[in-house]
Amino acid sequence: MNVATAARPREKNVPLLASLSTSQQEAIARIPPHAEADASAPAIDERRPSNIFIDQARFDLEWEHVFRALPIPVTLSALVAEPGSLIAVESYGVPIIVTRARDGEVRAFLNACTHKGSKLVEDCEPHAASRVTCPYHAWTYGLDGKLIGVPRAETIANFDKGDRPLAQLPCREAGGIVYVGLDRKRDYDFSMVEGQLAEDFEALNIPRAHVYGRKMFDLKANWKLVLEPFLEGYHVQRLHAASVGPMFADSPTITDRLGPHFRQTSGKINFDPAKLDPNENIHKAVTFAYELMPNAVVITSPYYISVMILAPRGPDRTMVDYMMLTREAPDNPKAEELFAKSYNMVLGVFGGEDFRAAELSQAGLSTGAMDDVLYVGLEDKIPAFYETLESHFPS
Ligand code: FES
Ligand SMILES: [Fe+2]
Repeated sequence: MNVATAARPREKNVPLLASLSTSQQEAIARIPPHAEADASAPAIDERRPSNIFIDQARFDLEWEHVFRALPIPVTLSALVAEPGSLIAVESYGVPIIVTRARDGEVRAFLNACTHKGSKLVEDCEPHAASRVTCPYHAWTYGLDGKLIGVPRAETIANFDKGDRPLAQLPCREAGGIVYVGLDRKRDYDFSMVEGQLAEDFEALNIPRAHVYGRKMFDLKANWKLVLEPFLEGYHVQRLHAASVGPMFADSPTITDRLGPHFRQTSGKINFDPAKLDPNENIHKAVTFAYELMPNAVVITSPYYISVMILAPRGPDRTMVDYMMLTREAPDNPKAEELFAKSYNMVLGVFGGEDFRAAELSQAGLSTGAMDDVLYVGLEDKIPAFYETLESHFPS
């Protein structure tokens, strides 16, 4: 029996150490035993002006040079898994449709009929469909964006259906996440969402996951305040003292940059690398938290993965699309009970604790109480994130 055989799942679909990418396994190998972990963090002097969370001018700068300039996450492959499926996305304030046509390719379009602009798909739920029909005068489009049906077409002179397809947006599917460029006239470099990040997500099975639960949050907070807690461990034992805090160590995580993105790898409380069982669910011992530049978060838990897309809508407003992924749909009452309990718990922790903290910060910062925000040593990934973000601004 070789090592690979020994590491095969005993149960169906259990994520094992060996199923992770080499890079993820190397990160785990760098986690010190809990008993020897150095809880100290560097003393840093890092501040950011409070107005980066408040000013419209700063928001406009981010919108133009980051959100309209980089590939941004809009939805998951799992929500358009089958050829002949589509979903509309409204969270960025730009109505978008993401489709998977019969050829298996994922495409994105502006959700606007090319007759008189009517929105074509009015909800944001996944649909099985082979075509899209406008609710107004019933012009019909294929999922590849081609206009295929026009009632009373003989009454339009000099008309060629081929001239009026849906307006297509640059789009790429990588590691189970669908990214688009919001400006259809720009060229986008999608290489930043490929490579190690996509390889890690493949290993986590994100492209083939089941979307167990999905909830949209409309928050009164700047998107960066919503993001910050996912880049630091300082708050975990404080804000989450009554929930998940006691499960985590109060020490720095193993942090890797995957291109512009962040991957934080941490052991649960009492982590001991010598006790890692290759036949046990690896996510019980280790947590991966990814920050996808600029605005998405992926966090592993023993039985599910959380994906959050944080769409900025104004200096003090963020739409969060929260999705809980499981390896498969629950196929027995015990699994259903476990997933339902996890879903309620995670919505309570993120919604009731992290998102609430972001709204509380926004409320306080808006008073003008202080000129800058101060970061402690356990929050040192936040200034590093801002450096990358701000590198996109014109100098
Ligand atoms: S606006 Fe869509 S068919 Fe008229
Ligand atoms: Fe948190």
